[in-house]
Amino acid sequence: MKGIVFTEFLEMVESKFGLETLDNIIENGQLPSEGIYTSVGTYDFNEMVTLITNLSEETNIPVGDLIYAFGLYLFAGLANSHPEVIKNYNTPLGLLYCIEDHIHVHVKKLYPDAELPSFKVLDKTDTSISMVYSSSRGLYRLAHGLIEKAFEHFGGTATITYDLLKEDGTEVKFDIVQNG
Ligand code: HEM
Repeated sequence: MKGIVFTEFLEMVESKFGLETLDNIIENGQLPSEGIYTSVGTYDFNEMVTLITNLSEETNIPVGDLIYAFGLYLFAGLANSHPEVIKNYNTPLGLLYCIEDHIHVHVKKLYPDAELPSFKVLDKTDTSISMVYSSSRGLYRLAHGLIEKAFEHFGGTATITYDLLKEDGTEVKFDIVQNG
């Protein structure tokens, strides 16, 4: 997993839960990188799992809810670090439609070792889109947060529902309907 995801995660922990919580989740000797990440580095996904599990124990907030909150936080971090990746889109549905074939393709050029999910579009109208998220990492709650913020980025909102096609969350269908 790319370092930018780790640096954004630690930033979120500090801003939402404070420095003490941040120290507690990294200073327990379980992390090979000892909580030190650079945005261009690549780290084991298990380190992220450890950080989120520790945060969940520390805050008593379920892991899934923390991953969703991180998705909400991460969108702005990605958009600000790489404005060129999203500057050509003028609607949230247009952006979502292009994650697989443009956005993440661009990300792969920036970070050749990025491990990205796939988003297969099943159906798109002027006001809605249905797509299937697949990834061995099962970060569909992260996708949910990112999708929600994509709408806010353009000044809108959406009703987002999802169905787990596989129980472990490695394949999840999203139905997204723009509000208003
Ligand atoms: C990883 C979804 C837009 C850059 C991910 C992951 C998800 C995701 C769920 C986690 C990896 C996985 O599940 O296997 C989305 C959605 C987007 C979006 C739903 C739009 C709403 C973007 C944009 C950028 C970006 C705009 C960059 C400007 C990345 C990067 C990673 C990533 C750097 C980390 C890859 C790694 O750790 O190896 N994306 N993404 N994404 N995405 Fe996106």
